[in-house]
Amino acid sequence: MNDFSDINHARRDLLIAGALSATAAAVPSMADAQPAAGPANPAPIHAGVSLKVNGKAEHLELDTRTTLLDALREHLHLTGTKKGCDHGQCGACTVIVDGRRLNSCLTLAVMHDGAQVTTIEGLGSKDKLHPMQAAFIKHDGYQCGYCTPGQICSAVAVLDEIKQGIPSHASADLNAKPLLNADELRERMSGNLCRCGAYSNIIDAITEVAGRTA
Ligand code: FES
Ligand code: FES
Repeated sequence: MNDFSDINHARRDLLIAGALSATAAAVPSMADAQPAAGPANPAPIHAGVSLKVNGKAEHLELDTRTTLLDALREHLHLTGTKKGCDHGQCGACTVIVDGRRLNSCLTLAVMHDGAQVTTIEGLGSKDKLHPMQAAFIKHDGYQCGYCTPGQICSAVAVLDEIKQGIPSHASADLNAKPLLNADELRERMSGNLCRCGAYSNIIDAITEVAGRTA
């Protein structure tokens, strides 16, 4: 090996050592990446929540991360309200809170302290069906039934929205009372998915109740 080759090797080793030390300096170690302080799994925080559910006063001590859906199903055992996607995409968990429908999987129970909540169990009973429940049966508005509690809660609230004059995306004139037609109903019910595809029968059921009540 000549002197020139020795110099090249020494230069190459120097460059490699320099690159390694520069990388080590630029990339923080795992220890550096950890948060400065605090336990890895902070203890859950609990809070008291008072709700009036289907006319009955309820008080729960809940982990503040509990959704309204889980409060209803897991804590109050009102399993009529269904968990479909748990991501706000299917409408199976729809309930009526202070007169407005909402996806109970997308909201925390603690946000509704003092609220009035109506679930499918509160709309009617086996012996005394709500007109919307009766119409869904009459028009075959379901097959497996999984989406049905959400569909019915939504449909009841939809008719109330129309009665109050609240426009939808399908309303042609935002200043006029919304029409009670199939386009309006389809648009307003578009957040409630039905894997069984009972949509046309659902619209028939809602239309019948709308005719009775509007
Ligand atoms: S379960 Fe809430 S929207 Fe699907
Ligand atoms: S009836 Fe089966 S998902 Fe709607």
